[in-house]
Amino acid sequence: MSPPHIDIGMVGHGFMGRAHAHALHTLGHVAPPSRPVRLAVLAGRDPARTERMARQLGFERWTTDWREAVADERVEIVANLAPNDLHAVVSIAALEAGKHVVCEKPLGRDPGESRRMLEAAVTSGRVHACSFNYRFAPAVALASDLVRAGRIGRPVHFRAQYLQDWGWRAPFGWHFDAERTGTGAIGDYAHVIDMARHLVGEIEEVAAHVATFVPERADDAGRAREVTVEDAYVASGRFATGALLNLECSRMAHGRKAHQTFEVNGEEGTIRWELEDFNRLRVLLADDAEPRSFRDVLVTEPQHPFLRWWWPTGHVLGWEHTFVHQWAGILEAVAGAAPLPARQATFEDGWRADLVVAAIGRAARDRRTVAVTDAEPQRTHEHRSREHHA
Ligand SMILES: NC(=O)c1ccc[n+]([C@@H]2O[C@H](COP(=O)([O-])OP(=O)(O)OC[C@H]3O[C@@H](n4cnc5c(N)ncnc54)[C@H](O)[C@@H]3O)[C@@H](O)[C@H]2O)c1
Repeated sequence: MSPPHIDIGMVGHGFMGRAHAHALHTLGHVAPPSRPVRLAVLAGRDPARTERMARQLGFERWTTDWREAVADERVEIVANLAPNDLHAVVSIAALEAGKHVVCEKPLGRDPGESRRMLEAAVTSGRVHACSFNYRFAPAVALASDLVRAGRIGRPVHFRAQYLQDWGWRAPFGWHFDAERTGTGAIGDYAHVIDMARHLVGEIEEVAAHVATFVPERADDAGRAREVTVEDAYVASGRFATGALLNLECSRMAHGRKAHQTFEVNGEEGTIRWELEDFNRLRVLLADDAEPRSFRDVLVTEPQHPFLRWWWPTGHVLGWEHTFVHQWAGILEAVAGAAPLPARQATFEDGWRADLVVAAIGRAARDRRTVAVTDAEPQRTHEHRSREHHA
């Protein structure tokens, strides 16, 4: 018989640790899962900070050794919210220990890593989820429902941007170190790649340019460190369906805070969404009457995705609710109460997104169009570290 609670072991208590813990608390208030969640153990690096965050986020205990969280017999789900260099090692250890795993994006530092994660997940038979949380914004969920229902006709264009400005003043940290992060803006903003796949389908080929505008940064100790990833990229490409792809992502766009936008133009209509206008979808649907131009839809009606859990019409939701919606489906799947929602990105989606990330990087490096299926790297991080120890 299953224990009454689902115990969660969380690795990482930074930005994402706070967002996921917040969601797990909130879910119990709005849509209680079949088996309630218990925040069992939090793993971090620094003892004082981890202890403080465990108390603040409501964890029963804490550790500075993630292996303890993974080995804990009571833990059923490991939430891997650590920097990218811990995604494969922690997730694979957790799956091998029989845990279900939720891992932040990008799934791996390269497609070789994410492929190994996918294989471990499939072998384990456990629930595996890659946290492409924007799929769970109600307006985005409505967008994907409309596209799938054919309401804009066959998609012919997908264009997206993810622009921020923190890159100009950030100190050197893991985000700027290829060994720890894999890629820079390409993988960091893998959300737009996932959204392209989610809304339009598989991407067949890409061409791209990348740039590193600040090649050296001081770390917290004031030492100059070389930046080994890109600050920004632009890419174009083609989907297997023949639709065209256009992406632009940057950490260096002054004034842009979290300017994530996408637009899908179909044969008969268009859908557009912006993260900073979270609750609104701009639509022009096939059956809209003349004059045919965008309508603003405030996605807060009870019949809209996830809205039946929340407030009266017009009482808007926020970014943090994407994690609440994502966790709801994961917990029901772990409890055996329902299959994992089709909307949920799995490790397969994480791997496929990482193939596109790698293809963009290679296209920019080689100055040529690259087929996504050719993006399995010859040298994965596993190979590199083996060479390192040889
Ligand atoms: N889904 C999203 O919207 C989104 C947004 C931001 C970041 N992310 C992803 O989430 C992950 C974490 O990003 P973040 O912004 O929260 O990073 P962060 O730097 O704010 O936090 C990282 C956490 O990992 C912990 N950590 C580092 N090494 C550890 C170790 N050896 N053992 C245990 N804990 C360790 C740190 O103590 C810290 O708590 C990254 O993969 C990132 O790409 C996703």
